[in-house]
Amino acid sequence: MAKISTNISEAQALLEKGELVAIPTETVYGLAANALNTEAVASIFEAKGRPHFDPLIVHLHDKSQLDVLCQKIPDVFNRLYETFSPGPITYILKKKEIIPDLVTSGNDTVGIRFPNHPLTRELLFESGLPLAAPSANPFGYVSPTTAQHVENQLGNKIPYILDGGPCSVGIESTIIDLSTDTPKILRLGGLALEEIEEIMGKIEVTTHSSSNPQAPGMLSSHYSPGKKLIIGNIEELLKTHSGKSTAIISLSKTYEGIPIENQKVLSPSGDLKLAAANLFKVLRELDRENIDVILAELMPNIGLGPAINDRLKRAAH
Ligand code: TXA
Ligand code: MG
Repeated sequence: MAKISTNISEAQALLEKGELVAIPTETVYGLAANALNTEAVASIFEAKGRPHFDPLIVHLHDKSQLDVLCQKIPDVFNRLYETFSPGPITYILKKKEIIPDLVTSGNDTVGIRFPNHPLTRELLFESGLPLAAPSANPFGYVSPTTAQHVENQLGNKIPYILDGGPCSVGIESTIIDLSTDTPKILRLGGLALEEIEEIMGKIEVTTHSSSNPQAPGMLSSHYSPGKKLIIGNIEELLKTHSGKSTAIISLSKTYEGIPIENQKVLSPSGDLKLAAANLFKVLRELDRENIDVILAELMPNIGLGPAINDRLKRAAH
């Protein structure tokens, strides 16, 4: 069992000793280590069972540390940073030597994020440590959005979970690659594409590189909840899949013929931000013995809808 608490100094002391600490962010909980301590970073991969070709995001309090870690920072970074950071966006930038290869899987770029959760911001500020942190789940499972989710799966592998309550955004950060002349979105996430395009115009989205080690985290089964999940028109699907062991995930509707406790409505009012915040909790709730199949409907193609659909499609593989 990990200790679950809110004491920043305790978390800091462990991180300084090279230990792992799970940290709350506005998106999902992260499994953090000092990014400049290779041994500590290695234990992240070990605890998660994560392949070494999948690089980690480095979390910072603000951009004052950036020049030490990154080079050739483009102007567009500053524009995005002023508007969206701290917040659910990760920037891929050219790295400097100081960042261990293990953090970036040998890439010459690094993912940098400024998370927006008060406890973790205080930890980053007080410790001054750059924190390498993937989502705090075993490799291949959905990301945790509460301290208890982390405890359930990694509690026996880590000493401490900093408890910041449920994550407000609930899906991982949007990843934007700023390391080449043409910026690209590598992962749809907690910051809607429309908001980014308002700042920098139309941007290419290349999130489907399932087996490309250059853009991992996009592995197709990455979000599998361990159950058969089918996406489609629920009314149609119910004709062939109804019964007690069927569950559904919908944005706002409920359906006849399915036990009400098996029906997960992500947001009764159809609010996609709320739907995103509920998604992983719902997938975890349905990952229980008496459910054989989960039917899910796709969200509308606006705001956080595409990012939710991306997670559903990965879970469906
Ligand atoms: O919201 C989030 O981003 C959460 C919280 C904890 O910050 N973190 C997270 O980390 O989702 P993780 O490791 O589960 O997914 C990060 C993904 C990696 O799988 C990889 O695809 C991508 O970020 N990534 C990291 N560094 C990269 C790089 N240098 N080039 C391309 N992709 C990179
Ligand atoms: Mg992850």
